Amino acid sequence: MTAFPEGFWWGVATSAYQIEGSPLADGAGPSIWHRFSHTPGHIAQGDTGDLACDHYHRLTEDIDLLVELGVKAYRLSIAWGRILPEGIGATNPRGLGFYQRLIEGLLKRGIKPVVTLYHWDLPEALQDRGGWVNPDSPLWFAEYAEIMFRALADRVAAWVTINEPWVIAVLGHLEGRHAPGQRDAWAAPRVGHHLLLAHAAAVDLYRTLGQQSIGIALNLEPQHAASADPADLQAAQRRDAFINRWFLDALFFGRYPAELAQIFGAAWPEFSADSLVQIRCPGDFIGVNYYTRARVAADPGSRPLGAVCLKPPRHQCTEMGWEIYPEGLSETLGWLKDRYGNPCILITENGAAFADPPPQAGVVADPQRIHYLKKHLSAAAQALSQGVDLRGYFVWTLLDNFEWTEGYSKRFGLYWVDRANLQRYPKASARFYRAIIATNGAAALAD
Ligand code: FCB
Repeated sequence: MTAFPEGFWWGVATSAYQIEGSPLADGAGPSIWHRFSHTPGHIAQGDTGDLACDHYHRLTEDIDLLVELGVKAYRLSIAWGRILPEGIGATNPRGLGFYQRLIEGLLKRGIKPVVTLYHWDLPEALQDRGGWVNPDSPLWFAEYAEIMFRALADRVAAWVTINEPWVIAVLGHLEGRHAPGQRDAWAAPRVGHHLLLAHAAAVDLYRTLGQQSIGIALNLEPQHAASADPADLQAAQRRDAFINRWFLDALFFGRYPAELAQIFGAAWPEFSADSLVQIRCPGDFIGVNYYTRARVAADPGSRPLGAVCLKPPRHQCTEMGWEIYPEGLSETLGWLKDRYGNPCILITENGAAFADPPPQAGVVADPQRIHYLKKHLSAAAQALSQGVDLRGYFVWTLLDNFEWTEGYSKRFGLYWVDRANLQRYPKASARFYRAIIATNGAAALAD
């Protein structure tokens, strides 16, 4: 028995900067992550994406891994700067050619391409014009999106416009932990708004050019109060507005949660009524990136939220320090259904980093990841049985790769990558996931 519907999209996800390497090859323009990772002090061990998994040169080998897994769909992202080295203007056919080969290779093997247009690697040339703070940024994005739709729309099964706008606005522009490394409360809400306008512009364009589906991917995590104390309950509500409702309320209701004006204070802009109408654009599906939950306590000294997250005990966490909390996935999916009118959902990312041992006899033993996936798939099945319109599930990620500020120190892959020679080895979880796909989920639900 399986709770997963016929035709469910079983997949894995990756992103360009994290796996491709050769960021400047064949005429590509550098991205903000290229500059950021090359600035000392930003990335653990001084790692960069220069080599990554060398996917740029190992396309065929990596497609073979997807075939070995038996995935129905593969979520990849396009490096904007390979297509438009300056971000706008002249296109670079050699960069486009790489993705055309990749997508042809997938289709030939019966794998549906799911393509993310923006997974954080803005062309540096556009950052020099202010990046996402610039009110023209949605137009830049629309120009790029149109090129991609014209080149590939008939071959791509689903498009994701933007990956995790919250991470871009907050980690990139408020906390400065991600590229472009800004710490500016004024910038963050404007960046968030421009990302939503960019998404809406791409969706509008797609309606005239494409026939499949288009959505956005959001990082969502339940915010649980650390105690029944009203101050903690309010802190959890504020954090819920900040992380979960910021983009969802905008996409579904054309408004921002009232808490945001309170959190950002004078830095929160007066958005025009027109632009609020425009950003009311949920698209065809919501992509959910789910990893963990937060337990939140009030802390008036912590600016700007007045809240802190409790640190869970080490043994309940992945290597990222994120609590393993599969119940939060069914909770999140059920909440999306109830609050936003049962939207169509793809789980566009779910997975975990563990300290995997090196391969023995060609295989890596990773029982913790198997356990993690099993529990989260059971949670997904539970959501399905409660009427959530879930259409697919993508494991983050195919290969151990460049995990942003953590560099190569965190391994999320179903395949282990030897950093010395980039050879790929299956982890036991790859075999487990293969069995799940082959049984349309039944193997995840068996004891
Ligand atoms: C998500 C990102 C993805 C990956 C995972 C671990 O926030 O979208 O690129 O780094 O986290």
